[in-house]
Amino acid sequence: MTDMADIRTPWRATVLTLFPEMFPGPLGVSLAGKALSSGVWSLEARDIREAATDRHRSVDDTPAGGGPGMVLRADVLASAIDAADITPDRPRLLMSPRGRPLTQSRVMELAAGPGPLIVCARFEGVDQRVIEARALEEVSIGDYVLSGGEIAAMAVIDACVRLLPGVMGKLASGAEESFSEGLLEYPQYTRPQEFEGQTIPEVLLSGDHARVAAWRRAEAEALTRARRPDLWRDPLSEQKRPKSPREA
Ligand code: ADE
Repeated sequence: MTDMADIRTPWRATVLTLFPEMFPGPLGVSLAGKALSSGVWSLEARDIREAATDRHRSVDDTPAGGGPGMVLRADVLASAIDAADITPDRPRLLMSPRGRPLTQSRVMELAAGPGPLIVCARFEGVDQRVIEARALEEVSIGDYVLSGGEIAAMAVIDACVRLLPGVMGKLASGAEESFSEGLLEYPQYTRPQEFEGQTIPEVLLSGDHARVAAWRRAEAEALTRARRPDLWRDPLSEQKRPKSPREA
């Protein structure tokens, strides 16, 4: 009998960009690159400019209402999206600093699906009408502004690809569980036992797995509280909290 996983089409990323030569870039090396060569996933980088219709092949124009910069034209981008001919089950993302912040749980959903179409914008932005007409989901990778969406798209793809079956083996699952529990990673150490006068915490050399696990949990909690109070939810108060009707 054929395993379902064997007949599934590989995860696929379709990127619309004005700089297709930027791809695969860093996605072509290391883990993601090996998985790309071996066919675990596939990548298509399409040039938005191919959808331009005028003699100058222009893709952008000045903002209505005035102001600095240029705006990506709705008609050109809509044609580029339509020409990519993606199936309706594939998410359509638009990388943008004003998007919803990317989370590990959204990454896990994207990795579990057929793979997204990702639009990379340059200039001041994209005509609002195409965002709505093609139902683009705006996604941000953080509260800072890049010069274009390409590096952000690579971050999304990399985060997904490492979760695909066979890419990282058992390595990924542990870390993912810890992040989806909402905690930052505990500190790691390896040989040498002494480095510039600093030693490895004694508990990690004790061989006592229960003590090691408790130490790591406490370190992860302390780090999360200090660095990411926004992520921190006290596990004890969570246990005491009455279940909402949805959870019950
Ligand atoms: N394009 C420019 N800045 C970005 C950001 N922070 N996230 C996603 N796309 C972007």
